[in-house]
Amino acid sequence: MRRMAVLAACGAIMAAQGLAEIQESTPKRSVPDIGPLGAVPEPPDNRITEAKVALGKLLFFDKRLSGDGQFSCADCHAPNKGWGTGEGISKGYPGTRHWRNSQTVLNGAYYPKLFWGGESTSLESQADSAITGNLAGNGDPEMIEERLAQIPEYVRMFKESFGDERPKYPHVLKAIATFERAVPVSKNVSFDRYRKGEKGAISERAKRGMEIFRGKANCIQCHNGPMITDFSFHNTGIPKNELFEKDPHAQIALRFQHYSRGVPEPEYRKADRDLGLYYTTQLPADRGRFRTPSLRELRYTAPYMHNGVFEVLEEVIDFYDRGGGDDPNKSPLLKPLNLSDEEKEALLEFLDSLSGDEILVDPPKLPDYAVMPEKK
Ligand code: HEC
Ligand code: HEC
Repeated sequence: MRRMAVLAACGAIMAAQGLAEIQESTPKRSVPDIGPLGAVPEPPDNRITEAKVALGKLLFFDKRLSGDGQFSCADCHAPNKGWGTGEGISKGYPGTRHWRNSQTVLNGAYYPKLFWGGESTSLESQADSAITGNLAGNGDPEMIEERLAQIPEYVRMFKESFGDERPKYPHVLKAIATFERAVPVSKNVSFDRYRKGEKGAISERAKRGMEIFRGKANCIQCHNGPMITDFSFHNTGIPKNELFEKDPHAQIALRFQHYSRGVPEPEYRKADRDLGLYYTTQLPADRGRFRTPSLRELRYTAPYMHNGVFEVLEEVIDFYDRGGGDDPNKSPLLKPLNLSDEEKEALLEFLDSLSGDEILVDPPKLPDYAVMPEKK
């Protein structure tokens, strides 16, 4: 585990043994090309079935999985807000606020590591963090099992999906993960159709943008492969977000993250910035490194970055054009780009071709509790 974390950390610098290829003036490393998205990876111990998808969908919208019965996954991952909250910094469990941007759940199934700092390694364990974490669901697994056992329709559905005599908490996680693998996944993306041979699927300007992305702008150094991410971690020097600067609850949550991740007291008491990958590896070089996000479905998922500091993609492109932000740990892969307005426009049009149909799901009607029959 430890070794894996260290490897992941080094990955960002060494970039698949490409260190020798990184030169001061034109940083380059061999990377996989961008391409169409394949089928969702399915873990062997949690195959996708219709019954699990139907159950997972209900659970995703069910507030009874949270401590006070008032907060569901969909409250922070609303399908009509790009499966996020649409705010720079996410809300939190009542009485708290999160300190990071609520990530989209769209295509979450393709990531080997989840969260902005890569703190979670599967959709199942991520769902557990979301349900029990005190900033999100603040739920108690035993209490959740009791609640579900008193909802006859759930008892029937857990039996059908997993053979449970009584709903089991680990199966709650599996059902939610299955729903995430089956439903919030890119559909009908024009870039994918283009890469599969439909020449007219994207405009000439988007094609030019793709060449800039791969060439002059060098985005492909970190945003590559079918998910348009290297799944690695980089420090791009993202500026602070005022929302965070003005919100005591977000600051409390950030210090709590430091504390619960074992950052020494003198440092966490003063914590004023998100350390990203550092929470997992505790390596100084990993401070401020975040997982490269996919660039799919950006049309729906503003604002952008781990702290939601950029409202629109134009701001993001200007940020990269300046060579990223200001941070002593900033990646050597970022340099000023000198893009013309026309090149920026083309880049934007290319990014737009990476979004597909909007995936909307109406909140389902949830099954009711029933009073236990009296024992005779
Ligand atoms: C209070 C708001 C909130 C609730 C409730 C919540 N989430 Fe999240 N979710 C977030 C935030 C914020 C992040 C980013 C957290 C981080 O990086 O530390 C996140 C991240 C995620 C990710 C990671 C995506 C990626 O690209 O790595 C997934 C998947 C996810 N949530 C699913 C869920 C599920 C499933 C539930 C319900 C069991 C849930 N969330 C409940 C706010 C919430
Ligand atoms: C050194 C690696 C690297 C390079 C080069 C790079 N990015 Fe990124 N990109 C990242 C990382 C890491 C993040 C997340 C940063 C954070 O939130 O702290 C990110 C975030 C983004 C986001 C926000 C996505 C979201 O969901 O919030 C967009 C859009 C983006 N990059 C586009 C680009 C474009 C366009 C280029 C080329 C001009 C580019 N990137 C070059 C690593 C890189």
